[in-house]
Amino acid sequence: MKLATKLLITIFLSTVFVIIITNLSFYHISKSFYKHQLQEGVENRLEAHTKVLALHSDVTTFDHVMMMEAGQEENSFVIFDQSLEVIQSSRPLTNEVIATYQDWIILHADQSKHTEFVETMEEHIPHAWSFTSFSSEEGVSGYLFLDQDTGSFEATRNNLLLLTFVIGFFTVCLAVMLSIYLSKRLSAPVKKAQLLTRKIALGDFEVDVPSSTSKDEVSELLTDISLMAKNLKEYRDERQRLFTNISHDLRTPLTYIKGYSSLLKDHQLEPTVVEEQSNVIYQEASRMEHLVNDLFQLMKYEEGEYQLEKERTNMYDFFAQLQAKIKLDLKAKQLHFNMHADSVDINVSIDQVQFERAIMNVLSNSIRHTDPGGQIEVTIFKEKKVCIIQISDDGSGIPKKDLHRIWERFYRVDASRSTKLGGSGLGLAITKEIIHLHKGEISVSSKIGEGATFLIKIPAE
Ligand SMILES: Nc1ncnc2c1ncn2[C@@H]1O[C@H](COP(=O)(O)OP(=O)(O)OP(=O)(O)O)[C@@H](O)[C@H]1O
Ligand SMILES: [Mg+2]
Repeated sequence: MKLATKLLITIFLSTVFVIIITNLSFYHISKSFYKHQLQEGVENRLEAHTKVLALHSDVTTFDHVMMMEAGQEENSFVIFDQSLEVIQSSRPLTNEVIATYQDWIILHADQSKHTEFVETMEEHIPHAWSFTSFSSEEGVSGYLFLDQDTGSFEATRNNLLLLTFVIGFFTVCLAVMLSIYLSKRLSAPVKKAQLLTRKIALGDFEVDVPSSTSKDEVSELLTDISLMAKNLKEYRDERQRLFTNISHDLRTPLTYIKGYSSLLKDHQLEPTVVEEQSNVIYQEASRMEHLVNDLFQLMKYEEGEYQLEKERTNMYDFFAQLQAKIKLDLKAKQLHFNMHADSVDINVSIDQVQFERAIMNVLSNSIRHTDPGGQIEVTIFKEKKVCIIQISDDGSGIPKKDLHRIWERFYRVDASRSTKLGGSGLGLAITKEIIHLHKGEISVSSKIGEGATFLIKIPAE
């Protein structure tokens, strides 16, 4: 069953239930109130006559009392004496009726007064029967009897019942309309959410969620769905980009390897040419190996479960060792390397192999992008509990528009030039992951033609 139908049925049934209960209670309360009022009215009237008769019970007083009651056409007012003989009655009554009244009074004669709603009349409209015994100072006693017609009460009761039904009917109609409106309002966004998720499941991430001012759960669900679609789209695009880059970067060295190896295979070549071409094959194979290793490593970092093997390391010693390792590269490009440390006593807890890899990526970039005779400078200092490593060069620099993208996988500022220089664009992505694994940060500032400065901050002891 659909949500809207369920909602409709629930609202409808509960409204009908509430209406029935309310109307029934209203009807019964009004009925008993009206009955009570009627009984009280009848009894008060008889009581008043009794008081008058207690003082004088002569014919004139009887006439007077009779005159007061005679105006009510539908009522029968009878004055009985002690032996239940009719003294006077407000209208002519048959013996049969008088006998019924007498029997009823005898039945309740142990009480001085009694009122009851009796259904004996032909019209089937209950009458209120009431009697009060009276006795006067002059020694006359008897009963005042009133047979009060409740026709007006019954009419009111029926009107009340009708009114209750009419109110109930309109309330049910209103409830149905309201529940249809509400269920439509509620189910529309849910339906929208269903359509969106179906679209996403079919691979279409271009979902359009209408902006809504309401902050209810369904609107939040729609916003979350659009966010999910956006993330999925980014993930898919990123994956596509990655595959394109990988295949592109693998295809180039493979083409070289295939071309040169086929030359070697099919032709009788001079030993110098063989050496030259084998060299190219070796270099391209190494590039491929380097790329695959980098990719594999990056994937491991990004899985988020990479376990660092940290040990306390003195930063000055660490960089002195690195300097020794890049000595030949620096010499080959006639680059000047300077290292300053505020103190030789800055210690950090790092995974030496991984951290070296991160720093080497930055240093090799600087070497690669700085012209011969240029300068590379490393400064190490400590601020509060943070070790700051600054690596700057006076090389070609990075254009402002590319600064935030150099951390992306396969991103190279000048792709053709970088590839020629041997880069695949994975170095800084790896560096960033390693620094983050060490709970550190890395940032860059650069001006084109003036060099680049990388700033690494990691927690120190
Ligand atoms: N010191 C620098 N001076 C100028 N450009 C730089 C510098 N460092 C990085 N870049 C630019 O940032 C890009 C990305 O660097 P990254 O180290 O990620 O890749 P790569 O060096 O091209 O390849 P890989 O490091 O994988 O061999 C480089 O291609 C280069 O254009
Ligand atoms: Mg690099």
